[in-house]
Amino acid sequence: MRNTGIVGIESVGVVGLGTMGAGIAEVFARSGLGVVAVEVDDALVEAGRRRITASLDRAVDRGRLEAAERDAVLSRLTFTADRGRLASADLVIEAVPERLETKASLFDELDRICPPATILATNTSSLPVTQIAAATGRAGRVVGMHFFNPAPVMRLVEIVHTVLSDHDAVESVRDLAARCGKTPVVVTDRAGFVANALLFGYLNQAARMAETRHATTTDIDAAMTAACGLPMGPLSLMDLIGLDVCLEVLEVMYAETRDQRYAAAPLLRRLVMARQLGRKTGRGYYSYEDGAAEAVLSGGSQDPDEPHDVSAIRPTVTVAGMDDQLVADVTKSLTARFDLAADAAAADVVVHLPTAPRPGAVLELAPRADVGRSVADDIAASLQGDGRTVVVSKDRPGYIVEALLYPHLNDAARMVDDGYASRADVDTAMRLGCGYPTGPFEMLDAVGARVLVERLPDIALSMPSPAVAVSALLRDLARR
Ligand code: 3HC
Repeated sequence: MRNTGIVGIESVGVVGLGTMGAGIAEVFARSGLGVVAVEVDDALVEAGRRRITASLDRAVDRGRLEAAERDAVLSRLTFTADRGRLASADLVIEAVPERLETKASLFDELDRICPPATILATNTSSLPVTQIAAATGRAGRVVGMHFFNPAPVMRLVEIVHTVLSDHDAVESVRDLAARCGKTPVVVTDRAGFVANALLFGYLNQAARMAETRHATTTDIDAAMTAACGLPMGPLSLMDLIGLDVCLEVLEVMYAETRDQRYAAAPLLRRLVMARQLGRKTGRGYYSYEDGAAEAVLSGGSQDPDEPHDVSAIRPTVTVAGMDDQLVADVTKSLTARFDLAADAAAADVVVHLPTAPRPGAVLELAPRADVGRSVADDIAASLQGDGRTVVVSKDRPGYIVEALLYPHLNDAARMVDDGYASRADVDTAMRLGCGYPTGPFEMLDAVGARVLVERLPDIALSMPSPAVAVSALLRDLARR
């Protein structure tokens, strides 16, 4: 990186006023900077203005912002469809759709509009910043500045430098992010950077779980929020991000890594084709049409309509988990109504206590073959209470929580092992970018690396893998 002296940024331009662009413009204007906010035509300019005004109004309603302050923030924003107005900005950031051709042609135009010292930043979530930079005559002054949704709330900004970046441009952008109250993490140019590279393997696995009726959408989300303390479950989060954005990120990640973990779940692709893009269109994995989020996909480990008479079946149960005390407590609460399986391997229903950052917060019920969903629901009802979350899952290695969490933590370990980011940066990125209560390495400490090493090979067997890998159902059938 060349060093040409730090530039203090006082005015910025934001191109694209969708969810992210509007949020970014709001962040800058609230930090006292003059902002030229640009969209392609007057209708979209107005939509952008409405988005930002609504967000500021909400802050006023909640008592987080004075009305006079809101007016001052709005006065710092200039809304326009004229890109020529960007010539006065010290930095221009774009948040236009994630297509390389779209971004490259915009940067080519910005290169002509803006003076040579202006820093051009991209909010791309996964496209190569190097390639975007190379489309300009000022590759040294092009950096990634990746915000997280909702931009006014999430404190992380990933600053991406390429092999071409000038040191002072990177430092100026880092300084700008800090002045806006954000925590910058500086990374090199690799698909997904830190947070998305870790997040999207996990989100895609959850999408596949929902699609394959491993568990219901609501149970997957409830299990992850309760067991790990996450602010949202993976499917709600995908709806927040936008399913089209999720698909774009996954496609880029897959193209760069050829890792099956990023091969987009087919249903995700279909939802995007159907323009069911999540919150912004009112429907994705959940429907938001009547205000409250309601799961759209049904399903689960067994067909809910199976006509089973629970008392006639007298199902046998077994409780599994690593915490002996918790297992004993749950076993005790079950034996009043159900028979314990003499041979745990032959139990009709497994009640599993995942080893997760919040032990005992979640009970996973896995009815084994030939036992109906109604049996699981009956047992679930008897286990509710004491603030526990009870979910129903297919009887597969790792059930829901461990199956999603352990590969996610393993990805974090691999990223550090690859030398891409430090443990501290990984933890900061996931805490401040995705609202995790603790970072992946802190979660790993809570769970224990040894537990992961023991369980991951089994969990891997039920994940997408070459066709010759023995299917989980085949293993089930062989056990009988
Ligand atoms: N704009 C501005 N402020 C917002 C907001 C928005 N869109 N959404 C929520 N807020 C504010 C609220 O006003 C509230 O502030 P207050 O406490 O001062 O009143 C605060 O955030 C909490 O909001 P709520 O009480 O309405 O809701 P929650 O407590 O459920 O929090 C959440 C909402 C902040 C979105 C939280 O659920 C969360 O952190 N979720 C995880 C989000 C995440 O992971 N984002 C990253 C996605 S990946 C990404 O963006 C990268 C991209 O490249 C794909």
